[in-house]
Amino acid sequence: EARGMIFDLDGVIVDTAKYHYLAWKRLAEELGFAFSETDNERLKGVSRMRSLDILLKIGGMVFDDDARRRLAEKKNLWYVEYISRMDKSEILPGAGDYLGYLRGRGKRIALGSASKNAPMILERLGIAPLFDAVIDGNKVANAKPDPEVFLTAARALALDPSECVVFEDAGAGVEAAVRAGMRVVGIGDPAVLNSANCVVGGLDALLPKNLHNK
Ligand code: BG6
Ligand code: MG
Repeated sequence: EARGMIFDLDGVIVDTAKYHYLAWKRLAEELGFAFSETDNERLKGVSRMRSLDILLKIGGMVFDDDARRRLAEKKNLWYVEYISRMDKSEILPGAGDYLGYLRGRGKRIALGSASKNAPMILERLGIAPLFDAVIDGNKVANAKPDPEVFLTAARALALDPSECVVFEDAGAGVEAAVRAGMRVVGIGDPAVLNSANCVVGGLDALLPKNLHNK
C-alpha cells in the first residue's frame, strides 16, 4: 500500500487555469494576437518560460532572453493580481476532504507543482498545514515532464518512489510521474491522460463515501 501521496496543485487542488488563461490572453492581446482557450490547454502543467515560448510561437513572434523574461514577469504580475483575490471557495470539490482523509490514515503528503506561486496559493486557501512537504517551481531545475519535482518530493517525505502515488491533471505531469517510477492517478479526461494507472474526474470521486457503488 502507498505511504506517500504527491499532489499537483493547478487543476488538481485548485482551478487556477482560468487565471493563467486570463493573464496569458492579456499578454497576447497586448502583443497584437489572439489566444484561445484551446491554445491554453497546451500550457497546462508547463513551466512559465516554456508556456511563454509556446504562446510566442502561436503569435509568430521572436524575442531575446531579456525581453522574454520581462514578458513572463508581466504575465506573472497579472496572474498574481487575479489569484490574490482567490479564497477557499475555489478549492476543487473534495480536495480538502480527501487531503484530510489521507492525513487521518497516516499518509505522508507532498505538493509537487511546477508553479512558483504555489506556497502563496496554499496560504491563501488555508491548506498549507495539510502538507508535510512542498516542492514547487522554486525548488527544481527541470520542469515536468522531467521527474525531478516528484523525486524531490519523495525524498522530502523520506520514501522510495515506488511507495508514492501522484495525482496529476496534465499530460506532462503524468509523464513525469511515470518517469519517476510512481503510480499515477489522472484527474480529468482518460483520452488525454492515457499513461495514468487510472483516471477520475476529480478528487471527490476518491472519497470513501463516493467509492461504495463503484
Ligand atoms: C503549472 C500550471 O502548475 O504551473 C501551468 O499548470 C503554469 O499552467 C506553471 O504555467 C507555472 O506556474 P507559475 O505560477 O510559476 O507561473
Ligand atoms: Mg496541473
